Amino acid sequence: MPNGDHQTIAIYPGSFDPPTNGHLDLIARASRLFDSLIVAVLQNTSKQPLFAVEERINMLHEAAQAYGNVAVESFGGLLVDFAQNKQATAIVRGIRAVSDYEVELQMAHLNRQLRPATETVFLPATAEFAFLSSRMIKEIIQLGGDVKQFVPEPVWRRLQSKLQ
Ligand code: PNS
Repeated sequence: MPNGDHQTIAIYPGSFDPPTNGHLDLIARASRLFDSLIVAVLQNTSKQPLFAVEERINMLHEAAQAYGNVAVESFGGLLVDFAQNKQATAIVRGIRAVSDYEVELQMAHLNRQLRPATETVFLPATAEFAFLSSRMIKEIIQLGGDVKQFVPEPVWRRLQSKLQ
């Protein structure tokens, strides 16, 4: 259901551990498509995170502050429940390759079954960022490589202080 003043609210969910230039590109593009965009960091994953959820929120907030209509929050539980609480009508996900599409299509179908009022919108990754993933960024860092060219400045700064 649209919210009262017909503002379109979208959620961009993810782990963002760490946020990459690809994520920031998606935020920039999605912020132009919707009246407001909520970047939603998933809490309590079973994975061992590199950054705590609070740190990820802070980094995303700093990196996205250029966009006046972007908020950053965390969520637990079902994404569609969070979407409902926020009166969001769209979930935005980036697609880098066909391999992403298979998983994303399944999630989109299941989320739509769970809450038909929320549509999933796929944005193709900008070619320049299509090879980026948080998992690979973590691997490069762990093996002593520099990821400056792949992550937003606030993320790189925090990585530097983490490594010192
Ligand atoms: O960045 P990621 O790890 O690919 O993001 C995955 C995410 C957070 C979008 C997905 O795991 C999710 O929505 N989790 C919340 C729990 C949920 O609603 N699961 C049902 C999805 S069909």
